[in-house]
Amino acid sequence: MKAAFINQHGEPEALQYGDLPDPVAGPGEVVVDIFSASVNAADWKSRSGGYGQMKFPYVLGRDFSGVVSAVGPSVDDLRSGDEVFAVCETGQEGAYAEKIAIKAAIVAKKPTSLSHVQAAAVALTGLTALSAIEDTLKLKRGETILIQGGAGGVAGFAIQLAKHIGARVITTASAVNHAYVRSLGADEVIDYNVCDFTKVVSNCDAVFDTVGGDVAQRCFAVLKPGGRAAFIASGTQAPQATRGDVTSLRPPVRRARGFLERIAQLVLQEAVRPPEIKLYRLSQAAEAHRVSESRHFRGKLVFQVR
Ligand SMILES: NC(=O)c1ccc[n+]([C@@H]2O[C@H](COP(=O)([O-])OP(=O)(O)OC[C@H]3O[C@@H](n4cnc5c(N)ncnc54)[C@H](OP(=O)(O)O)[C@@H]3O)[C@@H](O)[C@H]2O)c1
Repeated sequence: MKAAFINQHGEPEALQYGDLPDPVAGPGEVVVDIFSASVNAADWKSRSGGYGQMKFPYVLGRDFSGVVSAVGPSVDDLRSGDEVFAVCETGQEGAYAEKIAIKAAIVAKKPTSLSHVQAAAVALTGLTALSAIEDTLKLKRGETILIQGGAGGVAGFAIQLAKHIGARVITTASAVNHAYVRSLGADEVIDYNVCDFTKVVSNCDAVFDTVGGDVAQRCFAVLKPGGRAAFIASGTQAPQATRGDVTSLRPPVRRARGFLERIAQLVLQEAVRPPEIKLYRLSQAAEAHRVSESRHFRGKLVFQVR
């Protein structure tokens, strides 16, 4: 199969495009012929060595959409020909390829109303947003939430989900992305380049931070007493709260078919629509990584694999 992979950690140019052996479905696994795979911020962190050493050649990529082409022993709920989408097991990658072997239990049927490109775009972003907004923050109708980094993939899903729940959504984005985040449902948009959000936002019930660094640290200031904040760009632990009357949380982002089925349900209900998508071929992986690593683009970058 063709794949985009690395033989060493490094800059985007470390990504190579070439042939690797086809995977085989083990017990409980299926092989999926990948049609689309998405680029996540984790991919360039992984490529550059931020997640430690790995065995080379190493295929990056955490989510994808495709068609089941082989079924391993003990799999009785998926068949060859099923259109599916999935997020790889935590700590595993391999979606920048024409084929992947994956545990069947974490694969879900793709909604027919989504193309493979769109399904790949909402897999890990949707899973992360669901884990943060529904399971971790337990956002409720009538509450106010600040979502940091509104134009990004996870935040774009989270804005729509929060609106669907019935919350009021404030978000941060560069001016060029304001119309986009408003189109996703944001009620109030702050241009973080010209305005310190802590000066204009206060009394929030919840914050969802997808930016990290100094932005994450300052999020606690906008919460009301008893407020809660969830962080996905500050490593595996939530940052220490700077106040004693709020809660700092790290969504677990567990892999399970149920989360993907919830994404499909939200799409079918038209509560969530796919983000703006920029397409690449696998042979252009280095270029896609340069854009992802710039951290200033809108929506999702997706590989059209076949
Ligand atoms: N399992 C997990 O825990 C998990 C899963 C998925 C993602 N993540 C993490 O979550 C983070 C977000 O990922 P993502 O893929 O959604 O997006 P991303 O690629 O990290 O972010 C892109 C967006 O960030 C915005 N942005 C950059 N700096 C900003 C700032 N200071 N304030 C507000 N917005 C800012 C940009 O908007 P503008 O162009 O408008 O500036 C751009 O649209 C990443 O760190 C990623 O590693 C974690």
